[in-house]
Amino acid sequence: MALRMSLVTSLTLLSAHAHAAGVSGTAFGFASGTTGGSDATPATPSDISQLSEWLTDSTPRVILIDKEFNYLGSAGQNAIDLDSSDWCGDYPSTSCDYDKEALNGIAVGSNKSIVGVGSAGVIRGKGLRLANGVKNVIIQNVHITELNPQYIWGGDAITLDGTDQIWIDHVKVSLVGRQMFVSGYEASGKVTISNSEFDGRTSWSASCDDHHYWTVLGYGKDDQVTFAGNYIHHTSGRSPKLEFNSYWHAYNNYWHNNTGHAFDVVKETKALIEGNVFSEVNTPSETDSSPGETFAVTSSDKSTCDSILGRACAVNSLESSGELSASDESVLSSWPSGESDITVLDASKVRASVLANAGVGKLGGSSGASNAVTASAPT
Ligand SMILES: *[C@@H]1O[C@H](CO)[C@@H](O)[C@H](O)[C@H]1NC(C)=O
Ligand SMILES: *[C@@H]1O[C@H](CO)[C@@H](O)[C@H](O)[C@H]1NC(C)=O
Repeated sequence: MALRMSLVTSLTLLSAHAHAAGVSGTAFGFASGTTGGSDATPATPSDISQLSEWLTDSTPRVILIDKEFNYLGSAGQNAIDLDSSDWCGDYPSTSCDYDKEALNGIAVGSNKSIVGVGSAGVIRGKGLRLANGVKNVIIQNVHITELNPQYIWGGDAITLDGTDQIWIDHVKVSLVGRQMFVSGYEASGKVTISNSEFDGRTSWSASCDDHHYWTVLGYGKDDQVTFAGNYIHHTSGRSPKLEFNSYWHAYNNYWHNNTGHAFDVVKETKALIEGNVFSEVNTPSETDSSPGETFAVTSSDKSTCDSILGRACAVNSLESSGELSASDESVLSSWPSGESDITVLDASKVRASVLANAGVGKLGGSSGASNAVTASAPT
């Protein structure tokens, strides 16, 4: 009896420890119900080959990223022959060195939680690719950086191409060659991107002004995306660009210092934009030649939004920015069910909340977790 008691006690302690080291909070929005590696015992890979093995295998896992995993140079460098691209017409060709690893993201399997520890979790030189039917993945508190930032096709940080139930939370992306996030062309299903930082500061800018152009691209066919509490700064375009039969709900995000456009909503996409702050954003929403449908909440159409959605919608706030005006009610009347546990804050609270909570190293800190855009407070 005494033996059994102590066994039960130590098992309880073990699982309490496992929980504390795993994912913080729970998925909300369209991706609510996403559990990732669920209650698998959290474990720390020793090096990049073990990290790649654990990410790609078919075992449910909670993978702790407790240091920098550096893929740079691990497969040598190749020369890109720009001649094979028709981008530059008759301009002279050149060759250049780039890191081969960054071109293809790690093929993440289903039922994984990838969780940074404190502010130590960095994946350098390689992105994550979730494709071909992968389901139920959580990526939290990890900084993905340095994917050939000097070359436009250098690498994407997070790619979804045929997925469902994906929660990306408290992630930071910086210095990538191409997209910080991209979905498509297969359906991405239910996705939440929350409390994440898209840092566009770069010395290799396609817009030649130290701002990154290729930020967030939603090209999945049939995606339902909750995009909330994110910090998108020093970009110059595609923040985000959305097309192909999808719903995007962008609320309580903070856009700062964008020298080009934030939204470009193209045909077949429905975008609901509310309770965000746009500060120094040149063009909050691009006028596309084949536009999708957008409802961006203003004080004059808030009551329409409230009555169709049956809850209080939040007015966007714009300062030192261009205009944002779009009130296509079909967005509201066709809004899909299944976006659970969301709380939309008034825009007046958003800047402070986002600066305190978005990005890495901010899980469960004293920085106002109650204001963070999460369904439940981090444990
Ligand atoms: C993921 O977990 C679910 C639920 O346990 C299971 O049905 C499914 O087969 C798992 N997927 C893979 C690829 O192991
Ligand atoms: C905004 O971006 C411009 C252009 O890169 C830069 O000169 C300026 O200092 C930035 N402002 C802030 C507040 O970051």
